Amino acid sequence: MNGYLIEAENLSYVYPDGTRGISKVSFKVAPGEAVALVGENGAGKSTLLQHLSGCLFATGGVVSVAGLPVIKENLPAVRRAAGMIFQNPDDQLFMPTVFDDVAFGLLNLGVGEGELEAMVLKALETVGIAHLRARPPYRLSQGEKRAAAIAAVVALEPEVLVMDEPTSNLDPRARRRLMRLLKTFDHAKIIATHDLDFALEICDRTIVIHEGTIAADGPTTEVFSKADLLERCNLETPPSMRGCPNCAR
Ligand SMILES: Nc1ncnc2c1ncn2[C@@H]1O[C@H](COP(=O)(O)OP(=O)(O)O)[C@@H](O)[C@H]1O
Ligand SMILES: [Mg+2]
Repeated sequence: MNGYLIEAENLSYVYPDGTRGISKVSFKVAPGEAVALVGENGAGKSTLLQHLSGCLFATGGVVSVAGLPVIKENLPAVRRAAGMIFQNPDDQLFMPTVFDDVAFGLLNLGVGEGELEAMVLKALETVGIAHLRARPPYRLSQGEKRAAAIAAVVALEPEVLVMDEPTSNLDPRARRRLMRLLKTFDHAKIIATHDLDFALEICDRTIVIHEGTIAADGPTTEVFSKADLLERCNLETPPSMRGCPNCAR
């Protein structure tokens, strides 16, 4: 590995029906970096993220995670390195209890019964939901579900966290709590979001994706101060940068 956790070069994907998902996307993510992926609906954010966990395979170009090309033969190692947190926690949580959901991935990795309980509890404590361990995931609030999905992923000790719209469906308090939690993680992160204030607070770097290609890649404050760029990409200057006194982050 040459030091980068993610390397995409001319990564392209065309859906089977001919729809262009992403085109010639190139970027690198170093350990510890937090990168926001922003863009209007349909820009290609989810398509891009799905390549990082091998849910989709490139139709053009290449992408590697932790030095491994994302191809079928490398899937177990790629998925170990890149922990994917889906947009909808219901796609991630399917066991009878929160404990079992976190245990599931660990058991798949071959963790023995002896260490299992301590590892599950550690992950639940990390995200602050140890008290929910015996609850069925489908009865949790959106914020609690999001936390459980994150626990299931961080338990596996990935090198990079990949998150698709983590603040969607969260109320302001749950959103704040999630921001506080993410700040405690030193994993590299790549986070697709339409919440530009969230991007400002969590990610030093932002990639703007527009119609499947990269329109900008740079320090978040710099990217968000380019009003013409944001307008061209159908994005709005985040409230906290508009000097609006009622728009606290
Ligand atoms: N399963 C699919 N089949 C065909 N086209 C798709 C599929 N999923 C997404 N697309 C298309 O790919 C493009 C990028 O979508 P997506 O990656 O979901 O965007 P975003 O996450 O930025 O909203 C859009 O034009 C979308 O309609
Ligand atoms: Mg999406």
